[in-house]
Amino acid sequence: MAPNTLAELYVEELKDLYSAESQILKALPKMIKAATHQDLKTAFETHRQQTEGHVQRLEQIFEELDESPKGKKCHGMEGVIEEGADLIEEEPEPAVLDAGLVSAAQHVEHYEIAGYGSVRTWARQLGFDNQATLLQQTLDEEKKTDSLLTRLAEQSVNADAQSETEVSRRTAGVADAPARPAVSRARSEKRPRPSPGR
Ligand SMILES: [Fe+2]
Ligand SMILES: [Fe+2]
Repeated sequence: MAPNTLAELYVEELKDLYSAESQILKALPKMIKAATHQDLKTAFETHRQQTEGHVQRLEQIFEELDESPKGKKCHGMEGVIEEGADLIEEEPEPAVLDAGLVSAAQHVEHYEIAGYGSVRTWARQLGFDNQATLLQQTLDEEKKTDSLLTRLAEQSVNADAQSETEVSRRTAGVADAPARPAVSRARSEKRPRPSPGR
């Protein structure tokens, strides 16, 4: 049945998030197992525990609304998670897989951030202040996780992946890739743009 009011849309999106969080709870142990980088494993484990809290907050909200959390499958999250699972199945070099896992996890976080941002705002609009506070708490944890993943990628995971790639290329007898990317694009980006109207 189509949602015809903002309140109905709010419940629909909450159900979508509940399905998304349940799918994430199932997927995270596989990501923890697949990760090699210790800090990345720890970050995933911490977020797995936080995710249990996200599910509980949603259950609390459904109770307040006297609605069931069930009845919707989040197909978007299903696809995002499947892409991460596909990567694990391909069995890349461990450090390269770590870099891919960070990216896969950030796709998950960004999807959640979009959903939680919307429901938090709708909760405020609908006057559900307590629910808005709960949703904001989850939103903050998703954003912090996303920032932590960026930091891990930039500080070590990406560099480790790059050196592993170089080692495996050398052992395979493949010539090293050019050390620098082509400069032409960087140059053309620096060219001043013509002012509008001239
Ligand atoms: Fe979450
Ligand atoms: Fe999350």
